[in-house]
Amino acid sequence: MADIRFDGKVAIVTGAGAGLGKVYALEFAKRGAKVVVNDLGSSRDGSGAAHNAADSVVDEIKKAGGEAVANYDSVATVQGGENIVKTAVDAFGTVDILINNAGILRDKSLLKMGEDEWDIIHNVHLKGAFCCTKPAFAVMREKGFGRIVFTTSGAGLYGNFGQANYAAAKTGLLGFMNVVGIEGAKYNIKANTIAPIAASRLTEDVMPPEFFKKLKPEFVMPLVVYLSSDQMNETGMIFNCGAGWYSRSAIVCAPGIALGDGNRDITPEEIQQNWGKIASLSDAKYISNLGETFAFFTPLLQGK
Ligand code: NAI
Repeated sequence: MADIRFDGKVAIVTGAGAGLGKVYALEFAKRGAKVVVNDLGSSRDGSGAAHNAADSVVDEIKKAGGEAVANYDSVATVQGGENIVKTAVDAFGTVDILINNAGILRDKSLLKMGEDEWDIIHNVHLKGAFCCTKPAFAVMREKGFGRIVFTTSGAGLYGNFGQANYAAAKTGLLGFMNVVGIEGAKYNIKANTIAPIAASRLTEDVMPPEFFKKLKPEFVMPLVVYLSSDQMNETGMIFNCGAGWYSRSAIVCAPGIALGDGNRDITPEEIQQNWGKIASLSDAKYISNLGETFAFFTPLLQGK
């Protein structure tokens, strides 16, 4: 099996000054990529800003003989996203890979959560992905190549107490990824999403210390590197990863039941009577775009 290399490729990693993003950036550079190390240098809750986070990762890459440039913009504005991509184009001429990784937390249970906590989380995670992906996509479309990785969370996929803002933004990324993957298909732009579990400042107070030590970001990195490679042809997929566990999650659609004949009214009592079949996930399958769901109810539309 050929080594996965990124010689001649340009990778942007957002939030690469610490945690998971730092590990990705170091590995991309080690494997030949020119890397834009973006990091606002904020605290865990998104307040503040500092250049040293991105600078220290750039220094580390350069000391190891790699090529990298720092960018300190916030992903959370259109201008910031455009500057991040411009940094790559100005320094290295193009963008091949975008890792949407920057993130913060503002946990509160629902009744304590304010508008500020909702908005800042959406701005960094969901809008931030839009702000960076749109200008990167434009470059990738022109060249007919692109690999984009989004970062969701188990909190979004499955739910977690106190993270309504974060879970909603993280799950919003799945919808965004689906459309980026569909719109990018004919330009060889692949978009996939990871749901990592790793030790970082975001998780230091939510995991038992003995687990924390073992959940190294280095276990998430190989999946991100593979998803960014030429060899990888998947798009629109979601992967769980942590501690060496790699697994796919998907939004699936079950066949359910077709009631009526497309003309007669259907009563709530019929829903109640058929609840077993309606709520069953038996024979559920992965659906790669909205149009595929039509197969389930087209016979009703055709009066069959
Ligand atoms: P981290 O806090 O170690 O790293 C995140 C980096 O993003 C920080 O260096 C921070 O300065 C930077 N950042 C924050 N806001 C930014 C902005 N507006 N613009 C640019 N940079 C910004 O956190 P970690 O754990 O490495 O998280 C990386 C991603 O993985 C995040 O999106 C997080 O939500 C996600 N994630 C992490 C999990 C984990 O177990 N560590 C679990 C699920 C998701």
